[in-house]
Amino acid sequence: METKTIREGDAAGFESGFGVNWVDIGTIHDIPLRGARCVRTPQGRIAVFRTADDQVFAMEDRCPHKAGPLSQGIVHGTSVTCPLHNMVISLETGRALGADEGEVRTVAVRNRDGVLAIALDNLKLMVAAE
Ligand code: FES
Repeated sequence: METKTIREGDAAGFESGFGVNWVDIGTIHDIPLRGARCVRTPQGRIAVFRTADDQVFAMEDRCPHKAGPLSQGIVHGTSVTCPLHNMVISLETGRALGADEGEVRTVAVRNRDGVLAIALDNLKLMVAAE
């Protein structure tokens, strides 16, 4: 799985908004269909998912159960199944589905004609270090 790294001070591809930086992460074609790629940011690893019908979602790459890498899970519909213990997480809400409980922080994705950007928090970008 390809991983993109965004570093502090990496100004290329940043577009400021109100409290948010939109960070370019490539195109939808960089993500396998029904798969994910991982983006390293100063705010931690973000998993970016592509569904079978080309919807794109992003969230922390950290299962709420025991921090499994959701980017390595199986995408089905608008959900991902964690590769460690099979918790199913909604890609739309970040919440565990079924009988499980837990929630992952979701990240806004902008898709402009297949060119993707994720929204990172301005303030956290300035203070975070990885
Ligand atoms: S770490 Fe994801 S289900 Fe256990």
